[in-house]
Amino acid sequence: MLVSGKQILQHAHENGYAVGAFNVNNMEQVQAIIEAAEAMESPVIIQASQGGLKYAGVEYIAEMAKVAAQKASVPVAIHLDHGTNFKQIMLCIRNGFTSVMVDASKHSLEKNIEITKYIVEAAHAVGVSVEAELGKIGGTEDDITVDEKDATYTDPDEAERFVKETGVDCLAIAVGTAHGPYKGEPKLDFDRIKVIKEKLNIPLVLHGSSGVPEASIKRAIGLGINKINIDTDIRMAFHKAVKEFIHNNPDEYDPRMILGPSKQAMKQVIAEKMQMFDSVGRA
Ligand code: G3H
Ligand code: 13P
Ligand code: ZN
Ligand code: NA
Repeated sequence: MLVSGKQILQHAHENGYAVGAFNVNNMEQVQAIIEAAEAMESPVIIQASQGGLKYAGVEYIAEMAKVAAQKASVPVAIHLDHGTNFKQIMLCIRNGFTSVMVDASKHSLEKNIEITKYIVEAAHAVGVSVEAELGKIGGTEDDITVDEKDATYTDPDEAERFVKETGVDCLAIAVGTAHGPYKGEPKLDFDRIKVIKEKLNIPLVLHGSSGVPEASIKRAIGLGINKINIDTDIRMAFHKAVKEFIHNNPDEYDPRMILGPSKQAMKQVIAEKMQMFDSVGRA
């Protein structure tokens, strides 16, 4: 069933587990997510970035995700990932997304509050949940020094003010994760998660979660992370399966034959994440 992001995350927040938010660009990914969620009896969030929506078309992604959600026996939210543009956010809401992220994290605190507050007012008016970002979650290519850490990681006092003034439903925090694959092992600032959770008492979001070791993920959930974004690990499972299939069957040209095994591989990764996040059986 199609539900709001808030409904899914509030339950996770109250019960101390996390829900996977998996990025999609195509039909096989939507199906892999829904099949895994049903098999695991897990709530789930299907999310698309602006790049994903540009690739597939917002209507295509929205309609595929809605069909999947409406047919599903588990709660499903459809979410815009890293929305940076008012028009894009409105277009997603118009097309039936039940949750949006407004990412104004590159701006000053004041400007981030102003932009986020505006989106919250519009989205809440039509029952759509809002995630915002405070602090800067980089890519794994950005090498962050210890000094930069304080400048880019989420400040707990600023977070408290941010949530109070904007009314966001959940907050993405910068605590040492990064988008894309890691070179070494990521080091998370667990104390920071703990302090932010105590101050805010709302669902917290971890971005860049592909490549983060299971023990770190579990510890982060124990401290208050309730939404975990995964993109790269699914892309890699897709790539590996397609590469293997083509290597073993160089003359096969039927897209169904080529993409079918990749769907199974993505489903497997997603189901493993659901187990790791402790969302299995929560639907
Ligand atoms: O946060 C970024 C997501 O992994 C989406 O990436 O902009 O390449 O679709 P993308
Ligand atoms: P990864 O690609 O590292 O999983 O990050 C995904 C993400 O944070 C999407 O918003
Ligand atoms: Zn992200
Ligand atoms: Na990552």
